[in-house]
Amino acid sequence: MAMEKKTSAISGLYKMDRGKRIEEVASFSGMPPAQQKTLRSDTPLEFSVADKITENVLGFHSLPFSVATNFIVNGREVLVPMAIEEPSVVAAASNGAKLCRDSGGFSATSDPPVMIGQIQIMVKEGKAAAEKLNSKKAEILAAAEPFAENISKYGGGIRGFAARHVQSKRGDIAIAEFQIDVRDSMGANTINTILEGIAPKLAEISGGKVRLRILTNLAITRLVRATAIWKKETIGEDAVEGVLDGWAFADADIFRAATHNKGIMNGIDAVAVATGNDWRAVEAGAHAYAAMGGRYAPLTRFRKLPNGDLQGEIELPLSVGTIGGATRSLPTAQSALAITGAKSSGELSCIMAAVGLSQNFAALKALSGEGIQRGHMGLHAKNIAIAAGAKGADIDRIAELMAKEKNISTARAQELLAGKN
Ligand code: MEV
Repeated sequence: MAMEKKTSAISGLYKMDRGKRIEEVASFSGMPPAQQKTLRSDTPLEFSVADKITENVLGFHSLPFSVATNFIVNGREVLVPMAIEEPSVVAAASNGAKLCRDSGGFSATSDPPVMIGQIQIMVKEGKAAAEKLNSKKAEILAAAEPFAENISKYGGGIRGFAARHVQSKRGDIAIAEFQIDVRDSMGANTINTILEGIAPKLAEISGGKVRLRILTNLAITRLVRATAIWKKETIGEDAVEGVLDGWAFADADIFRAATHNKGIMNGIDAVAVATGNDWRAVEAGAHAYAAMGGRYAPLTRFRKLPNGDLQGEIELPLSVGTIGGATRSLPTAQSALAITGAKSSGELSCIMAAVGLSQNFAALKALSGEGIQRGHMGLHAKNIAIAAGAKGADIDRIAELMAKEKNISTARAQELLAGKN
């Protein structure tokens, strides 16, 4: 008997009950039983653990944990975990991915996981101080090595050093920058430990006063790129033109570019949150990168191929990890990572870039065509019904009635809940 090919195009997942959905996803990803149990639990994080993770903990803030279907990334079928409250994001990502399956899905590459750490040194003469630091590069690298012992054990470590200078409102600053391979971690702790360890040596060499010692979230040495082709026969010629027009709007206007990139980050952040990654770091890096060319620009590009198909691509820095930090302490993050099947931080970042591109394609296609409200409103109506106090079967019943009446409001939901027609 021929083996059935594994596919992320699981049909009708949305129609299944929760138990069956988890079963499907677990059997797809080979998720260990403990992580399945976490997904089945309504309180996966224990208070005693939460109380150790951060300060003044009162309780929990929950988000829906979903899975996007249809992704193929570098030839591998992938289900994507997403933690997000906004309706339509999971559906849009899945839809964008579905529409490029017939051309092989997404191809993505990631740079080695090298991050940059900065040390600020207040000096009298920035240029001279930076030159002095650069002239002692070998000595500085050797002195920094012991502080990188932990990450060196895993094959990472310090990869480079350079100093530069800027003039600031508080005088000259020499900026000493270390490039550090953080392997499969996000890297913040590794980098900041190295910087704090080596800083006194740099103060001694430069004769300046060390101030900040911290990584930069503008991780331009840890870029990821994804590309995909949407065939004109699959999406229609008007959708090809519509996406191109929508992209051109973002390229020409910063007000549109902000929303364009927000849509991309809807997808990327949702994966970052699900996998226990620092989505604020991801956001900061993405938007700074979008402005790096001297103006704030879209993070994606679209073009029409000679045969009329649509090609999309995305490039951004992604400092995300598959080990350490909250990826370990949050039980749902472990389940999320198991769903992705990512074996490294680079592989996870490739999936995230694909999600961002898919999200953007789906948004541009919808916005330039029928608009997003029709798809959005069905789910929005459910949220309104819940906010008005509906429970169980009443949620769908009231949402459907409001959608039919084209009157989606909390007041109407309350009336319907109270039995008024
Ligand atoms: C909404 O969260 C995201 C969109 O506004 C993105 C976009 O306009 O491209 C739909």
